Amino acid sequence: MINLNKFIPYWLFLFSLNAYVIAGTSKENISMPVYGALGDSVYLHFDTTLNSSVEVQWKRGVNRIAVFKNSRTVFYDSYVNRAEIFAIATLRLDRTQKSDTGNYCVEVFDITGCNILNGCIQLYIQEPVSQPVIYSTCLSHGEVLLVCAVDKGDNASFNWSLDGVSLNISLAYFSDEEHVVILKKHVFGNLVCIVSNQISEKHSDSVNLNCSGKKEWTQLVNCFTPDCY
Ligand SMILES: *[C@@H]1O[C@H](CO)[C@@H](O)[C@H](O)[C@H]1NC(C)=O
Ligand SMILES: *[C@@H]1O[C@H](CO)[C@@H](O)[C@H](O)[C@H]1NC(C)=O
Ligand SMILES: *[C@@H]1O[C@H](CO)[C@@H](O)[C@H](O)[C@H]1NC(C)=O
Ligand SMILES: *[C@@H]1O[C@H](CO)[C@@H](O)[C@H](O)[C@H]1NC(C)=O
Ligand SMILES: *[C@@H]1O[C@H](CO)[C@@H](O)[C@H](O)[C@H]1NC(C)=O
Ligand SMILES: *[C@@H]1O[C@H](CO)[C@@H](O)[C@H](O)[C@H]1NC(C)=O
Repeated sequence: MINLNKFIPYWLFLFSLNAYVIAGTSKENISMPVYGALGDSVYLHFDTTLNSSVEVQWKRGVNRIAVFKNSRTVFYDSYVNRAEIFAIATLRLDRTQKSDTGNYCVEVFDITGCNILNGCIQLYIQEPVSQPVIYSTCLSHGEVLLVCAVDKGDNASFNWSLDGVSLNISLAYFSDEEHVVILKKHVFGNLVCIVSNQISEKHSDSVNLNCSGKKEWTQLVNCFTPDCY
């Protein structure tokens, strides 16, 4: 199982390579949002070549988060002990909360007070997904109704794999609800449901499905149709 959270700073690094902010008087909004895991630290980063003889202000809306000036950093309000200016144009927020979702802006001034850089980043804080569970029901004509259930996680998306291969329309019927699929007749194998959001991914335990072998099947899954038994 991949813990994507561990890679977030690395991702940000990669992402920053193609999100250059040109120092000048232009205002730059980074269109690709940054995702952070609830409770973890998240880095908001602009890749610039600024030196330390500048003044940097980080804000969320009109509220100041931190000001770096004369080589000192001052944090404001709820950001005291919960944020760090890691490099000149990198802000780290710690112990993130859902309410940290928002638009963060940085303003940089040179020693003469001239605004040399403005940039904004949209941040989303997400709860990681929990391990999903597959519920299955044999339908009367030999199809299998599958439901993938997950307790936790924001903006979860679902994926299915059968013996390691992604389910497609020749093997299953899909609906608008990503967490529900119907496996076609005579489709057997080990099925796994994969749930992910932008910051996490979890796999269900593998379920062996065989609706034609009812005896074997009833030991593995709940049976809801009378002809199962
Ligand atoms: C950047 O985002 C901020 C906040 O949403 C907005 O006020 C500003 O107009 C945007 N700037 C550009 C150039 O899109
Ligand atoms: C740092 O920036 C200031 C103002 O932008 C500039 O005058 C100075 O030469 C820079 N110093 C270095 C070492 O790059
Ligand atoms: C939710 O996830 C989808 C992709 O699965 C993505 O396109 C969308 O932007 C995400 N929404 C938010 C608010 O993160
Ligand atoms: C589902 O898995 C397939 C194959 O691994 C991949 O191409 C696809 O992008 C995945 N979809 C989602 C929503 O994760
Ligand atoms: C569906 O997946 C199977 C097994 O990987 C493959 O043989 C088949 O060509 C795929 N069908 C479509 C329509 O992609
Ligand atoms: C499904 O179960 C039937 C009856 O137990 C068995 O004959 C058949 O080989 C099984 N098929 C697969 C693919 O395991």
